[in-house]
Amino acid sequence: MTDFQSVFGAAPDGVWAAPGRVNLIGEHTDYNDGFVLPLALPHTARATVRRRDDDLLRLYSEQGDGRITELGPDLDPGAVTGWAAYPAAVVWALRKDGRAVGGLDVHIDSDVPGGAGLSSSAALECAVAAACDGVFGLGLDPAGLALAAQRAENEFVGVPCGVMDQMASMCCAEGSALFLDTRDLSRRQVPLDLAARGLRLLVVDTRVKHDLGDGAYAGLRAGCERAAALLDLPALRDLPPVALDGALVQLPAELRPLVRHVVTENARVQECITLLDAGDLAALGPVLTAGHASLRDDFRVSCAETDLVVSAALAAGALGARMTGGGFGGSVLVLVAAEESEAVASAVRAAFAAAGYAEPRTFAAVPSAGARRVS
Ligand code: GLA
Repeated sequence: MTDFQSVFGAAPDGVWAAPGRVNLIGEHTDYNDGFVLPLALPHTARATVRRRDDDLLRLYSEQGDGRITELGPDLDPGAVTGWAAYPAAVVWALRKDGRAVGGLDVHIDSDVPGGAGLSSSAALECAVAAACDGVFGLGLDPAGLALAAQRAENEFVGVPCGVMDQMASMCCAEGSALFLDTRDLSRRQVPLDLAARGLRLLVVDTRVKHDLGDGAYAGLRAGCERAAALLDLPALRDLPPVALDGALVQLPAELRPLVRHVVTENARVQECITLLDAGDLAALGPVLTAGHASLRDDFRVSCAETDLVVSAALAAGALGARMTGGGFGGSVLVLVAAEESEAVASAVRAAFAAAGYAEPRTFAAVPSAGARRVS
């Protein structure tokens, strides 16, 4: 464990932290202008930074190879790859927007599990965005920083993600899930007091990431956009559930399941909001499980490992379970009565052992705070 001072030889100006997230429901809806309901994890990426007098960007990661990555002012997409692309991308995106972001020394340390569908990249981007805002006095609000971080990932890193992960990392609040309309970024903190209802949300990280995911995400997004264009709609968000059947018959067969998932998933987010507002948290379970079935059968982004977590958890008494994040591996969210939590987790581990899979990592998702200055 090194610290900023030992890497860069001077004291830092400050430390900013931004969390990873799990999404309660609303998967693959964000790039369709739809609804999402993520919560921030206690796990964070931390950016410790110091302004420089020149225009160099120097980056160091505790999780890296022990070397400093030094970049000049001519930052362009492709100039850097690997973990350093994310902080570089954020500086690039802010500068491209005309923000006065000068040279910076950045020390990164993160405990957000990587490649687990828990938004370790967004956490890193948002920690750096918040740090730039702080040290350069940019005066951007959390949504403005989230949008810059999303553009960084879309245009510099080259991943065509929606805005959910960055908005979750910037805007979530402790004890709540974030109900976000990704069309206009209007949002509401929805209290999620699981303990008061005797409930727990478990995250089961399958520790698998299928390569398939990288290109497939872009293909799914393109399919959704093509369907909206064929239906003459701005986005699939504009197709109400009552019009779904009539719309499906107008579409080529391969696009129909995508549209069905997005329309029913948006409805499931709203159903969950109604249940949360009524304090009926246990009733979320079947809605989560229905969301998984839709991702598995219609959107086809689950995989054998995530399906096995869901079926084993439900068989052991969980109230509901679904894969969370982009899919093709990653994590599953399990809603369970607190006293059943250990039994469900061990049933999932036993099912993995029986299937010959590596042991999954399990932890409780405690709704935590969004990006903040920590010192
Ligand atoms: C990834 C993307 C998000 C979102 C989810 C699926 O996490 O980064 O924008 O599309 O997949 O809901």
